[in-house]
Amino acid sequence: MSTPSFPTLTQALASINQSHLLTYYPSLSPDSQSKLLAQIKALDLRHIPKWVSEYVTAKPDATTASTSINPAPYYAIHDTSWDRSKYAKVGEQLLRDGKVAAFTVAGGQGTRLGYDGPKGCYPATPITNKPLFQVFAEGLLAAGRKYGRPIPWYIMTSPLNHAQTVAFFTQHSHFGLNAKDVKFFEQGVMPSFDMVSGKILLAAKDELATNPDGHGGAIRALDISGSIADMQSRGIAYLSYFQVDNPSVNIVDPVFLGLHAAAPDSSGEMSSKMVRKAGPDEKVGVFVSIDGRTQVMEYSDMPPALSKATLADGSLKFPGGSIAIHIISVEFLSRMASDARFALPFHRAEKKVPHVDLSTGNLVNPERPNAVKLEKFIFDALPLCKNSLVYETDRLEEFAPIKNATGTDSAESSKDLQSTRAARWLESVGVKVPRHTNGTVNALIELSPLTAIAPEDLKSKAASIKIDPGARITL
Ligand code: UTP
Repeated sequence: MSTPSFPTLTQALASINQSHLLTYYPSLSPDSQSKLLAQIKALDLRHIPKWVSEYVTAKPDATTASTSINPAPYYAIHDTSWDRSKYAKVGEQLLRDGKVAAFTVAGGQGTRLGYDGPKGCYPATPITNKPLFQVFAEGLLAAGRKYGRPIPWYIMTSPLNHAQTVAFFTQHSHFGLNAKDVKFFEQGVMPSFDMVSGKILLAAKDELATNPDGHGGAIRALDISGSIADMQSRGIAYLSYFQVDNPSVNIVDPVFLGLHAAAPDSSGEMSSKMVRKAGPDEKVGVFVSIDGRTQVMEYSDMPPALSKATLADGSLKFPGGSIAIHIISVEFLSRMASDARFALPFHRAEKKVPHVDLSTGNLVNPERPNAVKLEKFIFDALPLCKNSLVYETDRLEEFAPIKNATGTDSAESSKDLQSTRAARWLESVGVKVPRHTNGTVNALIELSPLTAIAPEDLKSKAASIKIDPGARITL
């Protein structure tokens, strides 16, 4: 692609009402001028007027025209009509054959957590405070040993945290993984727009305000970074997708892999895990079926009457909460990346974005949302599948997210859940775990993935484990 000259660029910006981006250009140093121009040239200017009119100055209508919103069908955890062990065997074979890689999206800004650094570096475990990245690395090491094949790991970063993330892994010798099996790539960014005028904001006189383009940006980023080609050359057919903030994720789940690859109602493109919603108001995306297509509806888009609707036994009619865990086939990813018909839509979020006030030249830190950020979400790929499958899992087994600094979904609540799950796993193999009279665990337990990635891994160790009331124990 040829690079536009400065006059062409000036003209192009004027034609899309974004000339203000060059307000300070004449007064900048040559380095700053080049930096600003490079950022502007990286934008796909043709699309900007459409994004502004569709998503920034107007709010897209999220209500669905369809009247047929049904709960998405799912493989229920306690349903004995399907054979878990059959699918576990399929999944285990895929792992033994080296067909599976892990994929973590770690490019988010983590504003709610407010941590100064990539979220994956955040201390997450109950006693030793291992960082999230280490928990996943140990899970992959253990799974690689269990199935006799190293499991490659693809990690999506953003320009905001890429260098720090790579340095963290280098500093920690990739936590024991072979460096050639850990691949980092950066996602793209989107400009942040002034909510009223639709003008792109300047973060500094020589810099546009931008934000990572959402976890849905993964599809393009996997492609242009060469990661899809790398997977294909390694013979990888399936990706185990998870977010960076859930230390309890079952990193490569054989049953889930087997269902995705072999269940009669799976198209083998993209599958999802769900947990039963804690209640009608829980703020998680919900699995619905619209016109026969399984998809995730954001909690804010779900009509309240549907969120609250119950069945005859009093349970929620729409029980399926998304925990952002998927299996995605490499072939599907490659098809999505190369075919414009599979382009994912943008979602609009109103945020507070610091910016240069063009009338004074000063940096402003807004107190109220002043800007629109546009992001793509990976789950918007689900309705593009011919047939996408949902598999129910137990919340305590697989979901202990760290989103906030305190309270719900914080490191504190996650550590508690991790310890409670460890207790459950130990009890399942006969270890006596002290409990309070109200049933909660009277100990703090940290279970390394190197010791167990599934309860059965503890069988051979159970006899030697003793836990005293009130103990802090690391296994
Ligand atoms: P969240 O929706 O929790 O966003 O991301 P966040 O940016 O991490 O946190 P907040 O909302 O600012 O507090 C869910 C997952 O998607 C990844 C995150 O790193 C996390 O694993 N993500 C999000 C990306 O990889 N890129 C993005 O652009 C956004």
